[in-house]
Amino acid sequence: VQVALLEAAAEAKPIFHNLMQLYLHEMSEWSGADPDRHGLYAYPYLDRYWTAEGRDEGRVPLLIMADDRLAGFVLKNRWSYRGAPETEHTVAEFFVLRKWRRQGVGRRAALELFRRFPGRWEVGEEHHHLAAQAFWRAVIGEYTAGAFREVQVDSPAWHGPVQLFDSRTEV
Ligand SMILES: CC(C)(COP(=O)(O)OP(=O)(O)OC[C@H]1O[C@@H](n2cnc3c(N)ncnc32)[C@H](O)[C@@H]1OP(=O)(O)O)[C@@H](O)C(=O)NCCC(=O)NCCS
Repeated sequence: VQVALLEAAAEAKPIFHNLMQLYLHEMSEWSGADPDRHGLYAYPYLDRYWTAEGRDEGRVPLLIMADDRLAGFVLKNRWSYRGAPETEHTVAEFFVLRKWRRQGVGRRAALELFRRFPGRWEVGEEHHHLAAQAFWRAVIGEYTAGAFREVQVDSPAWHGPVQLFDSRTEV
């Protein structure tokens, strides 16, 4: 599978609004989120990915393409799970559509993401979301050849493992 990671212009906003519903529904298994009375899951910060303020906050929206077809999306920001000011990049959301899973699409998109944004990364997963933990440990482990740290965050804002590494030291 040919995988590409494309920075998304404002014209692509509807794609994110639509795929976000699929993502939030899937994640509700772990987050416990309920849809509103219209049946929609809320995601308050999406529009900020296309504002100057959002840019200043390190927000970047990206589409994952597989064989030139829409296969998922990534939202990158700088929100530290640990409240660490030195953190430069965080995976806010990461989604691969079901038909493309377990074919290395997520892996290739993530490796490209780390290369494209050099610096100190944090990636966190919900405490009970074991598949995401397995995925990120495998991919970050590959990128860093095992040279990453993992901490357990237990705060009002987050509960689960967080991987820490510097993507400038790719091996
Ligand atoms: C997690 C997710 C992004 C993985 O994407 P993917 O394209 O299927 O992952 P890959 O095929 O690149 O997997 C790479 C490796 O990660 C691990 N992995 C991936 N999915 C896994 C799963 N469901 N269970 C256990 N390990 C998994 C495996 O080691 C895998 O290598 P292998 O297939 O050779 O065993 C995808 O399942 C997804 O979008 N899930 C819903 C949203 C989500 O949970 N996002 C993460 C939020 S933190």
